[in-house]
Formats: sequence, C-alpha cells, structure tokens
Amino acid sequence: MSQPLTAIGPTFCQSGSERRSLLYATAALGGVAMLGVAVPMVSTLAPSERAKAQGASVEVDISGVPPGGMVTVEWRGKPVWIVRRTTDTLATLPKQTSQLADPESHKDQQPEYARNAHRSVKPDVFVAIGICTHLGCSPSEVSVGSANPSVGNDWQGGYFCPCHGSTFDAAGRVFKNKPAPTNLEVPPHYYASDTRIVIGENAPA
Ligand code: FES
Repeated sequence: MSQPLTAIGPTFCQSGSERRSLLYATAALGGVAMLGVAVPMVSTLAPSERAKAQGASVEVDISGVPPGGMVTVEWRGKPVWIVRRTTDTLATLPKQTSQLADPESHKDQQPEYARNAHRSVKPDVFVAIGICTHLGCSPSEVSVGSANPSVGNDWQGGYFCPCHGSTFDAAGRVFKNKPAPTNLEVPPHYYASDTRIVIGENAPA
C-alpha cells in the first residue's frame, strides 16, 4: 500500500513521527537544452520507518515538476529519478541507438510497460533508479552541449557516471563498451492520477 504525499512546496515538511521529507531537488547542469532543470524542493509525506523497511511504495505528486525538471525521491533506500523530458529531449532518443548496448531494452531492467522506445509509461515522464548498474555510483545529468570531455562531441544529453565513465542516454540506456552492463533500472510504478505516481507497485489489476 502506498503512502500518499500531501504537499509539494519549497519547505521541508516535518509534521509528525510518520512524516518527514524525502524528496530533494537534483542539481541541474547548465546547457543549451537542459535535460532537467532544478526544482527547488519537493516535500512529501513519507512512509514510516517501519513501512519503509518493508519496502512500502511512495506516492509522488509531480504537478510541480516543469518540462525539463527533475526530482529525486527515496524508495527502499534508493534514489528514484522522476524526469519530465521535453520534446527536444524525446527527439534525441532515436538518434544514437546504434551506439547503445541494449537499445530495445531486452534485458529485464524495466517492467513490461516501460519496455518501449522511451522506457516509460508516458513518453515525457521518465522514472528510473539513479544508481549505476556497474558498481552502484550515482550518475549525474549531463545536458546536450556539455563541455564534459567524457561524453563525446555527439552527446545528445543523458547521464554520466563519474566512477568509471559509463554513459546513459536520456532513457537510461547504457552506451556500448562501457563498464555498466545494463540500462538503468526502471522501478515498478503507476499513475494514481494524471499528476500522481506511485513508485514501487504495478497498477492494480
Ligand atoms: S559505478 Fe558507474 S561506471 Fe562504475
């Protein structure tokens, strides 16, 4: 059973023993067409410590996340990214498939409903666990036009893991010949409404 959120806003929410903030803004990098822009702070009702230990799902209100925005929530102790991709970002996804290790997501790194070209339920909203599939470092967003020499001149925007240099496109698909063996993991999730996502569960039958 998911634990609903009650607020999104710029303040840290702490209104009882069952509550604490668990969302935090993710720094965005400057660039020509940013993959994600900073969302100042998102506060939520979080599951109790006991519920979290049991792997409770987390319900997130994404109504405050603008196109290009990104927030990170904690689920089962892991960071889960929620990125609202722009049309420009979505347009990059077919451009480098020949350079990707698993462009069609054959490996089981996502639920069936995210085994598609954008690896998501809604094309614009990307949900992924922000942990590198090599040794567990945290990749960072790197926008198209970045001067980061590790991502190459034809970089279309995506994620870069600084630990050993793995790169992922804007759908979390790993590039070939990188240490990370698989695409980033997409956790189970479903939409409770247009703007509320439940992380950690598939949609009720
Ligand atoms: S942990 Fe990401 S490349 Fe090694």
